[in-house]
Amino acid sequence: AASTDYQAENATISQGVVESNHAGYTGTGFVNYDNLVGSYVEWTVTAPAGPADVTLRYANGTTAQRPMDFTVNGVAGAVGITFPGTGDWTSWQTKTVRLTLAAGTNKIRARATTADGGPNADKLTVTPTSDDVTPPS
Ligand code: GCU
Repeated sequence: AASTDYQAENATISQGVVESNHAGYTGTGFVNYDNLVGSYVEWTVTAPAGPADVTLRYANGTTAQRPMDFTVNGVAGAVGITFPGTGDWTSWQTKTVRLTLAAGTNKIRARATTADGGPNADKLTVTPTSDDVTPPS
């Protein structure tokens, strides 16, 4: 299935900063969410209509989960998604949610829901599940 990567450092950031002081990120850096409720990163992604697997590559060097809610074009899509500790800030892992996307441009926002803010965010990978369907032969 075709996947497209969208770097966090190129997304719209509210209450967060682009940094590059922890190795292992892709692209040119990652987003350090401010440590507060409501900080977010919002990616503009292009997709066909329908479900997509949306994977966030992240690091959390603490032992506390950093939950976030995902919205698509302002509508709740996946809520209370946990981002557990990854061991240290240079250890990156992925978490995948299934979101329903519209045809064309979508705004996918990952918003922190606790006072710790979100995990450090490296990139979002979007894989429309329609691409998984085997064409009839
Ligand atoms: C440390 C770390 C940051 C991280 C922050 C946090 O300051 O260096 O990369 O974002 O902790 O707790 O969110």
